[in-house]
Amino acid sequence: MKKVLVVGNWKSNKTIAEGIEWVVDFGKIFNPDKARGCQVVLCVPFTHLFPLKERIEQLKTPLELGAQDASPFPEGAFTGEVSGRMIAEVAEWVLVGHSERRKYLLETEEELVFEVEQAKTAGLQVLYCVSDSITNIPYGADVVGYEPIGAIGSGQAESPTRANLVCGEIKKKSRVETVLYGGSVTPENVAQFIKQESIGGVLVGGVSLKVADFIELIYAAA
Ligand code: PGA
Repeated sequence: MKKVLVVGNWKSNKTIAEGIEWVVDFGKIFNPDKARGCQVVLCVPFTHLFPLKERIEQLKTPLELGAQDASPFPEGAFTGEVSGRMIAEVAEWVLVGHSERRKYLLETEEELVFEVEQAKTAGLQVLYCVSDSITNIPYGADVVGYEPIGAIGSGQAESPTRANLVCGEIKKKSRVETVLYGGSVTPENVAQFIKQESIGGVLVGGVSLKVADFIELIYAAA
């Protein structure tokens, strides 16, 4: 059976109370038997990591947590930064290089290399995002997320065969074993992506905000 990674990315959405409600509902509705072979990671805002970790442990919910960014700096005099060591206390994963951060926060390739380095030093698993097969993938990335910009949040997912082709190129070039597709993935189209040889899972934005829809997507992926 193919092992599938499903990663939800809440982006800058939900209060802590809303996040806790989502996790509690997930615990009530989710049936692990229907999701066999799926590993599920949830990337949430920094402020949500600790309370959600507590709730996930308490309810024994099969979810792993991730942050949505890592500081390129070690611990020290870097006001406003959250270091890899701090993240590692409350999460197993970190998203690095999401196209929204490259666009709005002007994160550069050079900075992203340091982010990966710091995250790896802290023992985090790195999901590194790119929007094509030519962008550099720093040493240390554990999983790559391929997200064509026009497909993100647009309802216009890329064709599964085209996504497979690009994910294959990324795999070959980076030697990273797991490459995810992201961009308007839904419960209806997810299976078409998972069926592709070079696609090891999906990165999901909008649909991860509604717990019932996200669970439906996980079942369809499984
Ligand atoms: P989307 O976002 O699923 O809403 O298209 C994907 C992402 O940006 O990770």
